[in-house]
Amino acid sequence: MTTDRDFPEDFLWGAATAAHQVEGGNTNSDWWHFEHDPKTAARESSGDGIDHFHRYADDFALLASLGHNAHRLSIEWARIEPAPGEFSDAALQHYRRVLTALKEQGLVSFVTLHHFTVPKWFADRGGWVAPDAVAVFERYCLRALEVLGDLIDFVCTINEPQMVALHGYLEGYHPPGVTNAVLWKRVGRTLLAAHTRAVAATRRTSDAQPGLVVQLPLLAPVRDDAVTRAFHDHLQHEIVDLYIEGVAESDDGGDWLGVQYYRKNWVDPASPTLFAAPPVGTQVTQMGWAVHPDGLRQMLHRAAEAGLPLYVTENGIATENDAERVDYLESHLLAVGQARTEGVDVRGYIHWSAFDNFEWSEGYGPKFGLIGVDRANGFTRMPKPSAFGLAAVADTGRVA
Ligand code: NOJ
Repeated sequence: MTTDRDFPEDFLWGAATAAHQVEGGNTNSDWWHFEHDPKTAARESSGDGIDHFHRYADDFALLASLGHNAHRLSIEWARIEPAPGEFSDAALQHYRRVLTALKEQGLVSFVTLHHFTVPKWFADRGGWVAPDAVAVFERYCLRALEVLGDLIDFVCTINEPQMVALHGYLEGYHPPGVTNAVLWKRVGRTLLAAHTRAVAATRRTSDAQPGLVVQLPLLAPVRDDAVTRAFHDHLQHEIVDLYIEGVAESDDGGDWLGVQYYRKNWVDPASPTLFAAPPVGTQVTQMGWAVHPDGLRQMLHRAAEAGLPLYVTENGIATENDAERVDYLESHLLAVGQARTEGVDVRGYIHWSAFDNFEWSEGYGPKFGLIGVDRANGFTRMPKPSAFGLAAVADTGRVA
């Protein structure tokens, strides 16, 4: 009998990274400049990252040895197109070598075209607010996919468009550091349009399967009054519904949908951060995020309304205590298993993250990795017990 603990043989298992969080030395992007501006929310420089730019082949071999059959990474627009319309063959050939190394390890590839960073020149000409932003992004997608498309299984067009809009244009916590509710909403819609163009670019250039990857937090009103409920419904629309419906209603919204889930959020119109602190007694992570596994099951049901196969493309916990990650992994895999037995078509689970890495404005403090990295001593990789836990699940197809 199939239970919530059982997964099919062709289920995809893996972990994710993003270029700027692991490569190091990406000085040409908006993020690098944000990190080096003392006036911004960023705590420290991404610096050398975890030197994945040079160590990718060994990293993929390590992940394959841990039972992964899939891997998600991003390619860096700022390296590939260092000046407007000028493409770097060296960068494109680098990523060909990276994707070839993935194939050599037998890993199915999920490749993100845009994971938070944009070239500095793109930011300087108005970023996602510039009138031709989508066309400029499309030009990059076409060139990148012409060169790399044959090595890609799944294209993740835009990583978490809602978070790009929210963090960058309403909270001002990510570049460009803007706090403007009009631009927040406009950029969200622009990124959906950019997704559609990236899907079209994928169709024109390769057989890869394109999909949008969205963060779907479980949102709940902190109080039961009309103002709080209305504010909750508004955020629910701008952060969740807009994207699921946008994909479902578009002529070609892609072949699948990626669900990225971390936490439950209590919406609070009286809070300057939009959300209330989790209730006392709630388990929270290093990020202050509330652990709530059933939210993953619920959000998979919601995402299924798009009518596409689903992959969990991110899910994880920031903690110094790996025993907490072992528990988080088990409870969230059971939530995926339960969604499946309830009829949701989930085909893979990609954990965030493969390695401890650069957590954007929070710097290197939060530890999301299945594998630790000693950045002071030769970037040594150290798999944690959670990595072996996930390996056992991938190997047996069963959460023991
Ligand atoms: C979402 C982002 O895609 C990823 O870059 C980030 O590190 C994790 N979530 C954790 O915040």
